[in-house]
Amino acid sequence: MSEKLICKNLGINEKGHLTLAGVDTVSMAEKYGTPLYLLDENLIRERCRLYISSMKKHFGENSAPLYASKALSFAYIYKIMLEEGMGIDVVSSGELYTAMKAGFPASKAYFHGNNKTDTDIWFAMDNGISFFVVDNEEELSVIDTAAKERGIKQKILLRITPGIDPHTFKAVVTGNVDSKFGAAVETSQAFDITKLALTKENLILEGFHCHIGSQIFEKEPFCDAADIMLKFLSDVKIQLGFETKVLNLGGGIGVRYTPEQPEIDYDAYLGEISTHIRHLCDKHNIKLPQVLMEPGRSIVADSGLTLYTAGSVKHITGYKSYVSVDGGMTDNPRYALYQSPYTVIVANKADMPETLKCTIAGRCCESGDLIQEDVAIQDVKRGNIIAVLTTGAYNYSMASNYNRLPKPPIVMLRDGVDKTAVERETYNDVMKNDIL
Ligand code: LLP
Repeated sequence: MSEKLICKNLGINEKGHLTLAGVDTVSMAEKYGTPLYLLDENLIRERCRLYISSMKKHFGENSAPLYASKALSFAYIYKIMLEEGMGIDVVSSGELYTAMKAGFPASKAYFHGNNKTDTDIWFAMDNGISFFVVDNEEELSVIDTAAKERGIKQKILLRITPGIDPHTFKAVVTGNVDSKFGAAVETSQAFDITKLALTKENLILEGFHCHIGSQIFEKEPFCDAADIMLKFLSDVKIQLGFETKVLNLGGGIGVRYTPEQPEIDYDAYLGEISTHIRHLCDKHNIKLPQVLMEPGRSIVADSGLTLYTAGSVKHITGYKSYVSVDGGMTDNPRYALYQSPYTVIVANKADMPETLKCTIAGRCCESGDLIQEDVAIQDVKRGNIIAVLTTGAYNYSMASNYNRLPKPPIVMLRDGVDKTAVERETYNDVMKNDIL
């Protein structure tokens, strides 16, 4: 069992209950009901500090992490990011609006996306967005025009596609040549958009961005991307006389979902990438630009877990057993979408042997609504509390109201104290925009 405690914030108390950040998860389920997202705020803050200090150590004082807020977006998380001195990346006016409502200034936000709408661009610009990360030539012109209309010079980065395979699942690969994101180096479109950007009078091109994918454990894909990016930086310097001030390496560093996956030493990881980049700068005779990174998953994933109440337990003789829970693909669509692995524990029997091999099913009217297949857990009965670990990233932010299920609340744990940060949706919330 203890190998299932895959993050240092997990434990088992004297009652045999699973704990997160020292807090009894079963008592949290009793207090707030289920399904419930629980988040260890201290770990989120610790990760922010680690990224900031490691990046400064390895890439220099002006480097900075930007929290990729698509991983988990709600008002309080932006307050945490502000307090911890993080920048943020947003991909919609909705994320930016939430951040600003929480007091996070647009002047510390970077606006991403392969299809920023006109209203996104106007909204972000009118609120003083620091940078747009421009995806394509058409967008370049629209942003240039919007800046002209406002009489401002808008800072931008260009999103470049380095064209490498990051060895992760296909749906989250973004840096390949035929990706919907960015301009590819291989097809010369990266060079062309740079040339065009330099002609735009109302834009200030400061540098480049690349993001190769998500949930990546090896350093090689980052180093391979750096090889291509730094060669590109050298080409634009030699051929266009453009000296890159900012290099944004995106996010994507992996997180441990199961005991078989490695635990990443983030400081060592960043150290190795920086050694490689510094070497490339020397090789190409380029000054090390300001380095930005955009961690999302690795800031929030293992701070979180989801608690469910077990409902029906069904044994199909000779086939398999299903344990159904009171949530599902509505609060965690990642198994349905990507067959993502998760670790599952019966929270009120965490000290007991795992005697049941089963599939954890959600409550939606759909066979594909599964949280995990063929996992070994403790002998579970209706009413027991089931914990699914490492759900801090891309769960709440991807949640839906399929089957009119209200979204679960988010409860933060800080220094042993629990506090609601997002309330449970009510049926009235779910139908608040309906008109009869
Ligand atoms: N920067 C950019 C431009 C991105 O597109 C992403 C993620 C990140 C940063 C953050 O990557 P992270 O550090 O979180 O890996 N829904 C999928 C993940 C999609 C990631 C999309 N982009 C999942 O549940 O696995």
